[in-house]
Amino acid sequence: MEQKHLEYKYMNGFGNHFSSEALPDALPKNQNSPQKCPYGLYAEQLSGTAFTVDRKHNQRSWLYRIRPSVSHKPFTKVAEKTDLVSQFGNTNNVSYIPDQIRWDPFKLLSPLSLEKDIPSQNINFIYGLHTLAGAGDPSVKNGLAIHIYNANHDMVDTAFYNSDGDFLIVPQHGRLDITTEFGRIMVSPCEIVVIPRGIKFAVNLPDGPSRGYVLEVFVGHFELPDLGPIGANGLANPRDFLSPTAFFEEKTNCDYTIMNKYVGQLFAAKQDHSPFDVVAWHGNYVPYKYDLNNFNVIGSISFDHPDPSIFTVLTCKSAFPGSAIADFVIFSPRWLVQEHTFRPPYFHRNCMSEFMGLIQGKYDAKAKGFLPGGASHMTAHGPDTTTFEKASNEELKPTRIPDGAIAFMFESFLMLGITTWGLSCSELQKNYNKAWEDLKSYFDPNNCSAN
Ligand SMILES: [Fe+2]
Repeated sequence: MEQKHLEYKYMNGFGNHFSSEALPDALPKNQNSPQKCPYGLYAEQLSGTAFTVDRKHNQRSWLYRIRPSVSHKPFTKVAEKTDLVSQFGNTNNVSYIPDQIRWDPFKLLSPLSLEKDIPSQNINFIYGLHTLAGAGDPSVKNGLAIHIYNANHDMVDTAFYNSDGDFLIVPQHGRLDITTEFGRIMVSPCEIVVIPRGIKFAVNLPDGPSRGYVLEVFVGHFELPDLGPIGANGLANPRDFLSPTAFFEEKTNCDYTIMNKYVGQLFAAKQDHSPFDVVAWHGNYVPYKYDLNNFNVIGSISFDHPDPSIFTVLTCKSAFPGSAIADFVIFSPRWLVQEHTFRPPYFHRNCMSEFMGLIQGKYDAKAKGFLPGGASHMTAHGPDTTTFEKASNEELKPTRIPDGAIAFMFESFLMLGITTWGLSCSELQKNYNKAWEDLKSYFDPNNCSAN
């Protein structure tokens, strides 16, 4: 028997305690775990933090489902080769390199093969994950990983959950139609979606071959950055975050696969029913999406280029105040009006690690070579020669980063290692250093004039 309630409906807010029912009165009244739940459902709590974490940071949700998550056959390790890495450090498949590194756009897969006997050419979201960089280790809950996904196949009767951390997914090409235990989410390029640790989800690809980036944090959860002197409003506003509403399918006597990433290893277990059987839920541990076009950009209206922390959308804090396991930062459409200022991002060296990607358009610090779907990882860096020459001499009229141009940065206080996959893939640029090779000296000890 199969019964689906297909809708995309969202609830607004960040960190809210939501309640959602796909059937009327499916949520128990006034308590979490009654002796018998409405409609004969099972009650199940999903904890996103330790039980005893302070109330401000405590995250958990109660799910009322047709069968509890524990109803599955034993997990077995997936034998197929994957490019997932989660344990960094001095391992054989990770290198630590002080050079700037950049990748061309990661090649999209071909459309789905209609030959059913060529499964190797049909890659779903999970098998399409390739770890590019990272730090730390989920087994000790510290660190992060950065993945590229490249997929052309729906997750058919397959769901996935990640035991290692939260996924922040940045689609770059193609929408993601994501079914979660909490409901359904459609995510387009220029939107992001966060799926916290342990939440089962399945990804379909309505636009065919799809590509994007994933930031995975092994500890904590993403939160909105503090605003300090900015005040009560600005950057990503809480009400623009959207969480799904309850959706369930009653699908039984089927051959369903539950995949799990557990300390970087993929496991699979069979069960005879859909895991998307949550009829009602309540809580504050939820998946959510956010449209990057809603970001309220704040910047300099006098002189100088502000530090890019002003563009932080979400942060996953470390135990060290002000230092993040990972920040998600965007460079999106805005006016540039600073006077007597070198307007592009300045040259700098950063004790944080910076990983950049481009969703669409052009990035204002790179005239060429940094393309949508590509990526870069850097130590000392700054605008390329062409950009420096132009920005040093152009008339400083108000200019606008055009609509649709969105670059982003994953920034971490940890030191990122690059995986063997990242260093051996054909998209790795061989001569990224040449972007700065032609920067010449203008030094004249006899002329202290700036011009
Ligand atoms: Fe930077």
